Amino acid sequence: MASQIVPPIKQLTQAYNNIQKGLASEDRIDKILQAENPIANKANATKSDDFSNGIEFNNVSFSYKKGDDGYVLKNINLSIPKGKTIALVGQSGSGKTTLADMIPRFYDTDLGDIKIDGISLKDLEIESLRKQIGVVTQESILFNDTIENNIAFGLDSIDKNKIIEAAKVANAHEFILQQPDGYQTNIGDRGGKLSGGQRQRISIARAILKNPPILILDEATSALDTESERLVQDALNNLMKNRTSIVIAHRLSTIVNADEIVVINKGELAEKGSHKELLEKDGIYKKLFDMQNFK
Ligand SMILES: Nc1ncnc2c1ncn2[C@@H]1O[C@H](COP(=O)(O)OP(=O)(O)O)[C@@H](O)[C@H]1O
Ligand SMILES: [Mg+2]
Repeated sequence: MASQIVPPIKQLTQAYNNIQKGLASEDRIDKILQAENPIANKANATKSDDFSNGIEFNNVSFSYKKGDDGYVLKNINLSIPKGKTIALVGQSGSGKTTLADMIPRFYDTDLGDIKIDGISLKDLEIESLRKQIGVVTQESILFNDTIENNIAFGLDSIDKNKIIEAAKVANAHEFILQQPDGYQTNIGDRGGKLSGGQRQRISIARAILKNPPILILDEATSALDTESERLVQDALNNLMKNRTSIVIAHRLSTIVNADEIVVINKGELAEKGSHKELLEKDGIYKKLFDMQNFK
């Protein structure tokens, strides 16, 4: 009797444990679902649909902890004219990602203002603003779904030929065809069944398909080995053609070819100019340039 009764009792306590765990998770998930997003549309927000002039940072300061004067970005003035490529460089933690994240309005400025074509981001309709911006970061955001759906993510109507076209420009078409079900292959959680370089090229294909006038590349090739970095870099070059790009890169060739290089140091805009100008200046950029991972 004892040997028959003990296992079910064990199972009962285990079930109780699981219920408690589930309840705790539910609490935490609920907190996220109920969280209020401070970034919301104004009552009569302007639609932004025809990027024509440029992006302007006016005396922008920002801190992640509100009410704190430990600003992560301090008094940034920067103008990004349409069609130009601006490279952001600086030590890790200097505020490059934060600065780039302000453009799709992932955060609001604390002081100062950011304008697109002369209109403050806070007056623009967020959806229409973000439709004009493509973002490729180090860690690609992919979903447990088919390759096709991952590339077309966020778009309403999907033209299969356009997806293939985008994949070709992104250097992804070939490896996609080699997958067991081609474009219908499921790539697993976070794209885990693909290599880092392949995941990155799927993200790039997504950005190409979206075809936004403004592009943000945040260390898009940093996590890759040299071989896939070359393929991804080619894809990025295709993507950047005829667009306004803000590029954060560790790779020198991307930076050297930028129209302007902006050096961020501890949240401040320290230097600005072309590669040649900044080398001659013999300041922070020169030091970064001389450092190992920059060469
Ligand atoms: N979500 C966040 N919450 C709080 N602090 C953050 C957050 N993201 C970045 N920071 C801090 O802001 C500073 C700038 O970070 P970041 O913009 O990521 O720098 P970079 O991209 O140049 O490496 C760092 O000190 C970092 O710790
Ligand atoms: Mg960063």
